[in-house]
Amino acid sequence: MGDEPNGKMARYARVALAFTPAAPIDDTALWAERETQVFQCVEALFQKGLHIAVYGERGVGKTSLANVLPKLIEQARLQSLDAVRVDCNTNDTFSSIWRSVFRELGMPDAAEEGRGVSDPEAIRFRLGALERRTLIVLDELDRVADDDALSLLADTVKTLSDHAVEATLMLVGVASSVEALLGEHESVVRCLAQVPMPRMSETELAAILSKGFGLADLTVEEAASQRIVRLAEGLPHFAHLLGLHAGEHAVMDDRPRVDEDDVRRAEEKAVRSHSILSEYQQATHSPQPDHLFGQVLLACAFAPKNELGYFRAGDVREALSDVMGRPMQIPSFARHLNEFSSDKRGNVLVKHGDKRRYTYRFRNPLLQPFVKMASRTKGLINDELYQRLQARQLSRQGTPGFS
Ligand SMILES: Nc1ncnc2c1ncn2[C@@H]1O[C@H](COP(=O)(O)OP(=O)(O)O)[C@@H](O)[C@H]1O
Ligand SMILES: [Mg+2]
Repeated sequence: MGDEPNGKMARYARVALAFTPAAPIDDTALWAERETQVFQCVEALFQKGLHIAVYGERGVGKTSLANVLPKLIEQARLQSLDAVRVDCNTNDTFSSIWRSVFRELGMPDAAEEGRGVSDPEAIRFRLGALERRTLIVLDELDRVADDDALSLLADTVKTLSDHAVEATLMLVGVASSVEALLGEHESVVRCLAQVPMPRMSETELAAILSKGFGLADLTVEEAASQRIVRLAEGLPHFAHLLGLHAGEHAVMDDRPRVDEDDVRRAEEKAVRSHSILSEYQQATHSPQPDHLFGQVLLACAFAPKNELGYFRAGDVREALSDVMGRPMQIPSFARHLNEFSSDKRGNVLVKHGDKRRYTYRFRNPLLQPFVKMASRTKGLINDELYQRLQARQLSRQGTPGFS
């Protein structure tokens, strides 16, 4: 192993630093621009009485946005902005959330004694002591089970909005709307800038790759970058994961340019070692020979979806027929769909609606691209069929949205 700064090990380490599939971005050097969402937040930050709600699917970049926003604002020399972030839990109450906030803010009296954190007015009073502009991020709000906590938070937004306080709240969570995140609190909506966080565009995903490879002194073939972007389906996690493994492979091979074969190897590695693999296996395992769970789940992944990620049994049929190489009718796979939305198969699909009109979606958005990758590396479909099914899915559906 060479110890010179550009030795193999150092280059390998730089790839690992540049790609972070398992952690939100913290460093603006790694940040792929999300202009719309950043500008919406900036507007809210500089407008009196406005606070921010960021919502969207898991894994689309909400926490990353919350992390880099204060840094982007400092870099733009707009003003200096203190920021704290608290991750909420299932057991949190209104008071426990605010105790954590005050601990992060270094205001221990409120944090330790627990006094003055029990109602919105008390919070406003405490926050009145802040001397610098401060962004207070309450992340993972969807986990909070206590409805009272959410209504009290809504009231807090309202009272902070009515008074001049140096704090902006940023409420963040997995949800399809502000109402789904906070509950129905009409009066609070006008105090909240609503920032829906969609999946990433192809340009944004490509930016992750060019930034990451650039930091690791690698270049990337256009076809290789495209392949990763397509596989990621708008989810930055997969751009990081495949960028990481493809970059590592190029470095191990002593090449400065990442090519399509590196990406193919990266897919194989991603499928072998991904934490979601056990979810996939539970969903598709069966002791019976010739069972179709793998094929049906794959066809679900390729089913055209509406903008919320939903599909029906009828949307699965065509892809399944192609995968099987013979016409398939709904009764031959209805049982599989049903089982996918049961405990036995890990509830990989969520089922909505009533009998005969069921709609389904993937519970974990990461599973859909994973199923496609796993099926390809396992030989359930070849490259040619993969491309054809992918093209058809994309031509029939809008951009993927909340699923
Ligand atoms: N703008 C971005 N630029 C680069 N990588 C990003 C960006 N946004 C998110 N990521 C990456 O995507 C993954 C998921 O991001 P995260 O912020 O944790 O999503 P969420 O909070 O919505 O679940 C992480 O690996 C993170 O590093
Ligand atoms: Mg998050």
